Order: sequence, then C-alpha cells, then structure tokens
Amino acid sequence: MAYVTETTITDIVLERWMAVPDPRLRQIMQSMITHLHAFVREIEPTEEEWMTAIEWLTRTGKQSHDKRQEFILASDVVGVSMLVDCINHRLSGEATPTTVTGPFHVHDSPELVDGADIAKGAPGEPCYIVGSVRGLGGAPIAGATLDIWQADGEGLYDAQRGGDGAWMRGIFKSDDDGRFVVQTVLPVPYSIPMDGSVGDLMRHTEISPMRPSHIHFLIEAQGHRRVITHLFKKSCRYIETDVVYGVKAPLITEFKLMPAGSTTPTGKLAERPFWLLEYDFVLQPGENASAATPASAAA
Ligand code: BEZ
Ligand code: FE
Repeated sequence: MAYVTETTITDIVLERWMAVPDPRLRQIMQSMITHLHAFVREIEPTEEEWMTAIEWLTRTGKQSHDKRQEFILASDVVGVSMLVDCINHRLSGEATPTTVTGPFHVHDSPELVDGADIAKGAPGEPCYIVGSVRGLGGAPIAGATLDIWQADGEGLYDAQRGGDGAWMRGIFKSDDDGRFVVQTVLPVPYSIPMDGSVGDLMRHTEISPMRPSHIHFLIEAQGHRRVITHLFKKSCRYIETDVVYGVKAPLITEFKLMPAGSTTPTGKLAERPFWLLEYDFVLQPGENASAATPASAAA
C-alpha cells in the first residue's frame, strides 16, 4: 500500500471511505472528503488557523440546543440554508417560491378567526394582510392553513420577548373563496442574533447583519406542496443585502399606506393611517417533498 504523503493522502482516505455500505452515505462522504481536501490544499492553513476553526466550531456546537441553533445560523449566513431550500423546492414558475424557515417558528401558535389581530397591542404601526390561497390555475383553495409569524414593530420575536402568551403569531384558515385577512403591525428590519459564534465571525466582515422587513408564512392545503416563505417589504433598505439570502423577486411586495378615515379590511373606519399588504399565494399540487417539520429552535 502507498504511504501517506501530501500528494497521496486524498486517494488513500477516499479508498478507506469506500467501506460504507449505505450508497448515499458513501457518496456524501466521498464528496465531502474530496472537497474538504481541495479546500485545505487551496488555503494551506497554519496550525493556529486550524485550531481557531476548531474552537469556532466547538463554540457553535455549544451554542446549539433546543432553544437556539447557532449551526443553522452559520449555514444561513453563508447561503447554504437557501441553497438547500432552492434544491428541495424546484416549483413551477407560477407557484409562490419558498424561503428559509428561520429560527423563530413556534409549533403551538393559537388558531385565530379570520381578521384576528396577532399584534394585540404589540408596538408598531397598524397593518393588514389581505389575500388568498390558490392553485396553479387560479382556483381558490378553501380551508388552507396559514401559520403566520413575524417580529413586532421593535424587531423582536416571541422567543425574544419571553412573555407568557403567544406574541405576533397565529394560525388562520382560508375561507370558501380561498381568502384570508390578518391584522398585525408593520414588520421592521432586524439584526440576526449577534451574541454567538456567528456574530463573532460577522464582526470580522463588513457584511450587514440585517434582515429586511418581512412576515413569515407556512401554508398547507390538502393535495398541495407545503410552502414556507416570507413576504418582504419592497422599499426596505436591506432588501438587496439580506444576510441570509432569503429574498426572491416574487416575494417582494408593496405595503400601501392608507390614510386615516379609510375602511379597514375588517370593515372598521380607521382612526389612524394603516398599512395594507395584498398577496395571493399560489400552491403547487402534490405532497410535501420532505416530511420534516421545520426546526423551531428560537435564537
Ligand atoms: C428569520 O427571519 O426569522 C431569521 C432567518 C434566519 C436567521 C435568523 C432569523
Ligand atoms: Fe424573520
């Protein structure tokens, strides 16, 4: 057998790692070893740099548990989460595209009636979301579930507020015409959590840690592919520099400012100006590609 030199080591390791009965795991390990060795050959790390990387990964692991997922955040900021999302959701051009789930989804949101207010006194400017859920040909989908969550007008999510009840989240159902109305507050841009190992790394860069203003949606309907997505506010200054690369063109939406005195989508006369977001979600027929439910680890 050949002994190890800088030139022979990759082939020796690859040959050893042929002994993996599961063909998919073998493919993954062969590819990972090939790319990792090429990466190391390219950057030629010093031993100090190698230890810095190991210590960073160790801290990232220690900061990942059931309440926080620093590894997912690391995957987000290098665009891997979005690449995995794109590969797994190659939908028809008409269908509403998916984007990252993010760490703030909570599984036990309250089921609310059409038009209900998820803000319930949370800080922020009043906003209504009015829309529908449709199939590819435009037919309305009745009884679709819309699980909605967002940060409040100060950029904080439920888990970051740490209160008792649900904060800025709720589950709605589309009506017989596929329509729904949600009362909320205008989302604002916010920074990803910067107090962990990912924040340490980001501070060595000039990359903005901000996410553009958005509202999250998880939409499910019988016989259709589940869509996990966001709607983004078009004029937000961070729309082109989203730190997790989640923005796709069809998800950029106009929030219209309506004057005081207008009738709100729930039929009241507005005493203050309010924002109005109108959007029709389009679901592709099929079943969910992956049965995995999104992780709900709050950062
Ligand atoms: C979010 O939009 O909630 C989010 C997504 C990725 C990283 C951090 C936050
Ligand atoms: Fe978010």
